[in-house]
Amino acid sequence: MPPAAAPAAQPPARHSATRSLLRLWPYVRPIRWFLTASTVSALLASLSALVIPLVLKNIVDGPVAHHDTAGLWRQGVLLLVLGLLEAGLFGLRRWFVARPLAGVERQMRADLYAKLQRLPVSFHDRWASGQLLSRATSDMYTIRLFLAFPLVFLIVNSMVFLTGIGIMFTLDWQLALITVLPAAPLIILCSYFERRYSAAARLAQDQNGDLATVLEESVLGIRILKSFGRHRTMAARYRAQAELLRETELKKARLLANLWAVIVGLPELALGTSLAVGIVQVAHGSTTAGTLVGFLSTALSLRWPVESLGWLLAYSNEAATATDRFYEVMDARPADSEDGPVPDGAPERASARAGARDGIRLAGVRFRYPDAPADSPDLLSGLDLHVRSGETMALVGLTGSGKTTLTALLPRLYEINGGRITLDGTDIREIPRARLRELVSMAFEDPTLFSASVSENVLMGAPDASEEELERALDVAQAQFVRALPEGSGTQVGEQGLSLSGGQRQRLALARAVVGAPEFLVLDDPLSALDVHTEALVEQALRQVLAETTALVVAHRPSTVQLADRVALLADGRIAAVGTHHELLESNPEYRELMSGERTGEGTEDGSLVR
Ligand SMILES: Nc1ncnc2c1ncn2[C@@H]1O[C@H](COP(=O)(O)OP(=O)(O)OP(=O)(O)O)[C@@H](O)[C@H]1O
Ligand SMILES: [Mg+2]
Repeated sequence: MPPAAAPAAQPPARHSATRSLLRLWPYVRPIRWFLTASTVSALLASLSALVIPLVLKNIVDGPVAHHDTAGLWRQGVLLLVLGLLEAGLFGLRRWFVARPLAGVERQMRADLYAKLQRLPVSFHDRWASGQLLSRATSDMYTIRLFLAFPLVFLIVNSMVFLTGIGIMFTLDWQLALITVLPAAPLIILCSYFERRYSAAARLAQDQNGDLATVLEESVLGIRILKSFGRHRTMAARYRAQAELLRETELKKARLLANLWAVIVGLPELALGTSLAVGIVQVAHGSTTAGTLVGFLSTALSLRWPVESLGWLLAYSNEAATATDRFYEVMDARPADSEDGPVPDGAPERASARAGARDGIRLAGVRFRYPDAPADSPDLLSGLDLHVRSGETMALVGLTGSGKTTLTALLPRLYEINGGRITLDGTDIREIPRARLRELVSMAFEDPTLFSASVSENVLMGAPDASEEELERALDVAQAQFVRALPEGSGTQVGEQGLSLSGGQRQRLALARAVVGAPEFLVLDDPLSALDVHTEALVEQALRQVLAETTALVVAHRPSTVQLADRVALLADGRIAAVGTHHELLESNPEYRELMSGERTGEGTEDGSLVR
């Protein structure tokens, strides 16, 4: 994982907010009729509000001028009906979109999650987890809110605005001109605002992601932070990060406030002027009092469409940047992204089984991490290794020599940069990933458990395994402690299995690797956290499993090495020597040094030896 405060992995390429928002179409498409219905009802509601000033004009010029009480009542009832219609239609608008939009949000979340699961490990190496978290939570919310409200009202309010202006021009074109002219600078101002605001919105969302990363790491690492007395430092870091976000939010608020001042101030000024001019006109008899009342109330009812403009633009910009952030993940390296479930009976499946029993073969394998410094040598540079079918091969080497990396290449957690890896003669790139990962079973250095029951955690390795197979796997891993747990193998283990000891977690991870009787077993230092006694027991039981599979076991200790038929020594990106433990002890000084812990001269870069 990159440092917590790392900025978003890729600098965003800015394009217009509209273009970003248009990318939402695939999600909006299924609910387009609901959105249309919602927009139409909001439009009808707003237009019925625009009729009210016309009724007022009629009241003033008709019943009021002629003292016609009955006419006054009729027009009054009409006003009431229009008011009710407006309220009812606005209610209907909400009703149309609430449920479909919740569905859109759910769909986007599901797609993002599926994508994150499919993306290769190298993607997750590059991206801070908090950035992904914030994209999956707050950004989705922003987008849903945008579809519910700003999207509809940007359309409705502009149409209402144009209609209102039309009405004003019909009522009195001179007054209308006075009122509308000041709006021209507004358009320029809005486009300036849009650019500035979307940059700030993007920054705020990214900083939100950084904040989430710091929070997540400090929650997960709370034991380490406390025991090293680092909680204050971490709190200071969190505060600094929160301060950055606060500044960006303030900047957004300032931008919006400035725009708001102009948006509210200009029409106010125009309205005052047209009121004064209108009164003069009425006094000269060139227009009626009713027309002036109608005109002014129309102008007044256009205040909301204009004033809301700043807010609607701001929100649309946030939604556009949220959409960009969503698609940055969705677009990530599609070529690399891992394929989905593979249909049964794929031809590769047959060949992987029917091929010669050749075991695991690595030929001229080259690999470097995608984010390794450009001038560094390849981590694995032309590595050859053959693990015969049924054989157990131990892999030893100095710490940092690339053992864990090598094991991750077999199930294609990373892609090799050159050479070839075959399983029973079939290139692993020709085996569908889902099948490959059934074939190769792994136990990692870091035994991660999920918040689920013990049996769910173990059966991840083989979902269809029977109760007996589960029991056998637990026996092999010497995980009898499970039976003493309150609910046996049904016991929930806490977040990351923290309620279990390191050795207990390691044994469950081992059980997970062996449960499905995999054809190829890869164990990365599986016994490191066990006491000598338990280690001996696990080794004894593991021998039976290893006898039935082809296995590659990363080992640091001589006792683990003895599980293996042969040993391969990894040094300088290649396999430097292969042989039995005793052969290598005899013939290879480097190996002797590694196993005995004695130093015989040549050191490593950092001078460290294994364990
Ligand atoms: N995800 C990664 N991205 C970039 N570099 C990495 C990554 N993981 C490991 N490395 C680098 O690759 C090198 C080999 O790491 P690896 O974990 O394979 O060593 P190892 O032989 O398993 O060591 P150990 O015995 O300590 O487990 C190290 O220098 C490490 O810094
Ligand atoms: Mg390792």
